[in-house]
This record gives sequence, C-alpha cells and structure tokens, in this order.
Amino acid sequence: MKLSIEEKQELENIYQSFLHDEKIMRMKDVPMHRGSNCYVHSFRVAKLSIKRAIRHFKGNLKHILIGAILHDYYLYDWRVEKDKKSKHLKSHPRTAIKNAENDFEIDEDIKNIIKTHMWPINFKDFPSSKEARIVTLADKTIAFKESMTSKKFKAKRMDKYLNKITNLFD
Ligand SMILES: [Fe+2]
Ligand SMILES: [Fe+2]
Repeated sequence: MKLSIEEKQELENIYQSFLHDEKIMRMKDVPMHRGSNCYVHSFRVAKLSIKRAIRHFKGNLKHILIGAILHDYYLYDWRVEKDKKSKHLKSHPRTAIKNAENDFEIDEDIKNIIKTHMWPINFKDFPSSKEARIVTLADKTIAFKESMTSKKFKAKRMDKYLNKITNLFD
C-alpha cells in the first residue's frame, strides 16, 4: 500500500493529537511490562500496527491507529488497586472502551479493536476484523519485547523509548 503525502500527513496529525493530549498522558502514570509504561507501550503498538498494515496492504488505517493508541486506556495500576488485580486480564479491554467513549469519539470498529485485543486470553472475544487482528498481534510483539528487557535497563532507556515514539512515520 503506497500512501500519498496527504494520507501520511493526516495519520501523523491524528497520532500527534493523541500523543500530546493531556488525557492520554495519564497513561504515563500506568506502569506496565517491567519498567515500561502504558503511554510508551500504546504508541509503540500503534506504530508497529500501522507499519504492518501498510506493508501488508491491510485495513482502515485510521481505525487501526486510534484502536491501537486506546487499546489499553484503562487508566489504573492493577498492582496497586488490589480489587482489580484478579480480573485485570479479562476486564481491562472493557474498562478501556468505557474510558475511551467518555473522552473521545470512537465508533464500533474501534471499540471492536479494543475489545478483542486480549484474544486468545479472552477466548470469546475473537478479533473478527483484520484491523483488530493487526492490533492484537502488534500488542503481543511489543509486550514480548518489553518483557524480554530487564527492568533496570528499561528505566535507564525510558528517554530513548520516548524519543522513538515522537512521530508515527520516522
Ligand atoms: Fe491490554
Ligand atoms: Fe497492550
């Protein structure tokens, strides 16, 4: 899929508007995967999803981009909020949808991407669209990479990670 300059710019503008949104920045306070945070994680997933979608000529890129950015928009630390700990894996996609609906305008396709990103852990929520499949796979790739990096190393590299997500297209 070859994007025109205008198409690329439109996606980059959407990406930038989320990246600098104060509501989205709250994800920086949500730790995840050994020293990463939800903000860095989500924009890494968004970048990888768009890269793969373009490479494989797949899907509605705007839906993929927004769905990926918001897929973990649950805004709590399950390690601190003990009542959420046991249910977190299964319930956080629905919490993310609720928060995303409150704070942004999202359509059913985007909700579906968020809802199904934990497949196959949430086995009933199969990612039925190609957009959802791209995001769930990119999420797993990034989560795996984050889990393979040590906590200490990652804390030191946080600035570098933040630098890597400053633009959708490098
Ligand atoms: Fe998640
Ligand atoms: Fe995730």
